[in-house]
Amino acid sequence: MERVIIRGVGSYLPDCVLSNTDLESMVDTTHEWIVTRTGIESRRICLDTEMASDLGYEAARKALENAHIATCDIDLIIVATMTPDMQFPATACIIQKKLGCSDIPCFDIGAACSGFIYAMDVGRNFLLSNPAMKNVLLIGTEKISSILDWEDRSTCILFGDGAGAVVLSRNWDNSDAGIWDILIGADGRCASMLHCSGWGASVPVTVENVEQRKYFIRMEGREVFKEAIKRMCVVVEDILLRNHLTVEDIACVIPHQANIRIITAIGERLGIPQEKMFVNLQHKGNTSAASIPIAIDEALKMGRIHTGDLILLVAFGAGMTWGASLIRWK
Ligand code: COA
Repeated sequence: MERVIIRGVGSYLPDCVLSNTDLESMVDTTHEWIVTRTGIESRRICLDTEMASDLGYEAARKALENAHIATCDIDLIIVATMTPDMQFPATACIIQKKLGCSDIPCFDIGAACSGFIYAMDVGRNFLLSNPAMKNVLLIGTEKISSILDWEDRSTCILFGDGAGAVVLSRNWDNSDAGIWDILIGADGRCASMLHCSGWGASVPVTVENVEQRKYFIRMEGREVFKEAIKRMCVVVEDILLRNHLTVEDIACVIPHQANIRIITAIGERLGIPQEKMFVNLQHKGNTSAASIPIAIDEALKMGRIHTGDLILLVAFGAGMTWGASLIRWK
């Protein structure tokens, strides 16, 4: 059976660290409140001049190096982001220019924090359906600091900037390594729970709209929290069931890094021991579409993923969107 493998992984974080103590001087909050409610201690924030494409480019370079392939060997670039450099062209095109690999197709995917798993499904299907394609570059990159309301303590403490990338290639050696399955879904009825209405055509640029702070993230935290746990549990159960697997078969779960309480809750509900759940949100916060590829890169570097392991990625995000991916590591 032909499968698609993750051939290389890379990630990149901006240098600037914003700690909870720094936030104490910006909004009415405390380090203790943030750590207790979210698990986050600090996050990285872009400089004004640093864009999602800059972070994505750096992560992509590392992933290509790790995959031992040249930029001329990439056949497609897909970028998952909710903070593109501009409305158009796609950030994927801007990264293509930086990498210097012109003419190949490039596009962005918008599925918020589930974007990377959506991109993985699309990239995998391109490879499986088009024999001319050998390598697909997937990038999750975010400059969420640019859409945060730094006066809203309920949201600005949660997020961070960063990028991660993977190279997808066909499995040449006929082993069972590779992406076994991906399941994605959405419920548009929950769209208003977590949104940023500015930047879209429904909110023209007027002084009134800017004054009403419509260019920033708005969130019903408690509702998102409950929905996230429910959806991630269901998608994990569904993907395991349809592959005739149980949680015992999984060596490492890499969940979207939004909140330690969400990760703990899904682990408890599904009977997954906490030591199998990979967590790195302490010093990154929620990096949205970048969170899963950054976490894969870090899990590999920490020796948490080994050849032959079955790993499970699971994410949720605005939309609501969700997704899970089951991978036999090469
Ligand atoms: N510092 C101190 N107090 C804060 C605060 C902060 N940064 N943010 C909110 N509060 C206050 C609230 O105003 C509220 O005060 P009140 O009781 O006087 O009204 C109190 O803390 C409790 O707020 P609540 O929203 O119920 O807290 P919570 O336990 O639900 O935690 C979140 C808030 C945002 C951490 C939590 O709801 C969450 O993580 N939601 C999911 C968010 C998410 O993952 N989004 C991304 C999806 S991809």
